[in-house]
Amino acid sequence: MPKRKSRPQKRRRRSIIAFEMIRLDRTATEPLHEQLYRQIRDELKSGRFSDGSSRLPSSRTLATDRGISRSTVRLALSKLHAEGYLLSKPGSGTFVANLLPETFLTAGQAKTYQPIERPIRISDRVRAIPDARVGNQFDLGATGAGPGISLIASIPAVDEFPIAVWERLRAQVLAKKGVNLLRYSSNRGDGDLRKAIAAYLCDFRAAHCHPDQIIVVAGMQQAMLISAMAVLNPSEVAWIEDPCYQQTRRVLSLAGVKVIPKPIDNQGIVIARSPKEPLPRMIYVTPSHQFPLGVTMTFQRRTALLDFARAHNAFVFEDDYDAEFRFVGPPLPSLQGMDNANRVIYAGTVSKILCPGLRLGYIVAPEQLIDSFVKIRSAMDQHSSPIDQATLARFITEGFFLSHIKRMRKIYAERRDFFIKQFNELLGDRFTLQVPEAGLNIVAWLKREEDFPMIKRITSDIGVRPSTLSFFCIQAKLKPAFVFGFAAWTPTQIRESLVKLASALSKRGKDLNHGRQSR
Ligand SMILES: Cc1ncc(COP(=O)(O)O)c(C=O)c1O
Repeated sequence: MPKRKSRPQKRRRRSIIAFEMIRLDRTATEPLHEQLYRQIRDELKSGRFSDGSSRLPSSRTLATDRGISRSTVRLALSKLHAEGYLLSKPGSGTFVANLLPETFLTAGQAKTYQPIERPIRISDRVRAIPDARVGNQFDLGATGAGPGISLIASIPAVDEFPIAVWERLRAQVLAKKGVNLLRYSSNRGDGDLRKAIAAYLCDFRAAHCHPDQIIVVAGMQQAMLISAMAVLNPSEVAWIEDPCYQQTRRVLSLAGVKVIPKPIDNQGIVIARSPKEPLPRMIYVTPSHQFPLGVTMTFQRRTALLDFARAHNAFVFEDDYDAEFRFVGPPLPSLQGMDNANRVIYAGTVSKILCPGLRLGYIVAPEQLIDSFVKIRSAMDQHSSPIDQATLARFITEGFFLSHIKRMRKIYAERRDFFIKQFNELLGDRFTLQVPEAGLNIVAWLKREEDFPMIKRITSDIGVRPSTLSFFCIQAKLKPAFVFGFAAWTPTQIRESLVKLASALSKRGKDLNHGRQSR
């Protein structure tokens, strides 16, 4: 007997959703298709329809019911389709997806456990970083120059950065290179950028290098970390300047290196050593002008340093962080340009020239170190943002970089002169300024050492925040001084800050006198 055809399964009810809740506001700034998309999406997320059998009304019906055009409805529905809320069944219509996209995105809530208070084991590496800060004291975003805080050292005038030009160039490179800028890219850096940097350094810093020696990195700190990891084994010795850029010591300690501070005299780093002292494998210096004292390393000291490095098979790490901003005479050539024995690792950053937020810098690697540097970078974070790199390449090749440097040098020169004049007028009885040939900071030595704690307290209270020089010292016992930044503030702001500081100090002086007399 022929098998009886099985009865068709009971047809599932396919209700057409009415979407009565939709309320469109023609006066709102949100486009109608976005409102429609959002309201349908929220309705679907409410969970009432996600059984795969709820059908949507046709776009014509929805449009007529809501008094809107079909193209508005289609735009909303196509977005819901694209995100996976709807699916089309040819010949049957559009249905609510069985599983909404949220299913794949939202993790289930973990059961709440009672927290167990047990000390966490932290690695020796973390403990070795010489840094007493805690919590958001590390957070430069939180502790940087906010409103009402002024004269902090080392801050460039980011409000002068040509954002509109940058945006235009970024749009151009994205239009030209498209998805190529979205892929992983070379861990040496963008080819055009490396060419542009090499040309700039040869022309302006008297460097001797070719683009293959350039490695684009995420700023000076990364340049230091990569270099230290490549040339020093843990516990081997690096010399650094004392006082020094505070991040240098931290970064080298992170690399496991033994840091030996070396004093600074009026020629630069002092390279004399006692016979018992271990030889360094790397020597960190800021020859263009020492941070924070501002000394420009003399030609003789440069030669002596290179001779020492050559004789002892050490590398010199040249941190050329803001050599572009010189105010007296032409710059001396970079150490890299003077070196004929491949002993100098040169590094630069755009943090001062342009802005620190870009997190871009570059290493000029001695030939024999290129591969090791690239190997470390690729094990670290591969590369910096290809979009930013390509934009910077264009910024340089189209002349905006040089023009920005020239414009900023002029602005900084004016601010510096103004700062010096006003400072001497208002605060000259308490401080002696040590004016460097270059850079964005000026050291002010106290005339009366005993004033130091009081001035420190007052600068912190009133928001005029030079750093104490001792903050940058490791073993150096220098007389009390403050390091003032002048670059990021207009003359009016500089004057206001200095007046505020001078009057807070003189008020404090009067209060003290008054206290003494009434005793
Ligand atoms: C001596 C020195 N080097 C480098 C930098 C900048 O480093 P980065 O490129 O990591 O922002 C600074 C910033 O203040 C500095 O003072």
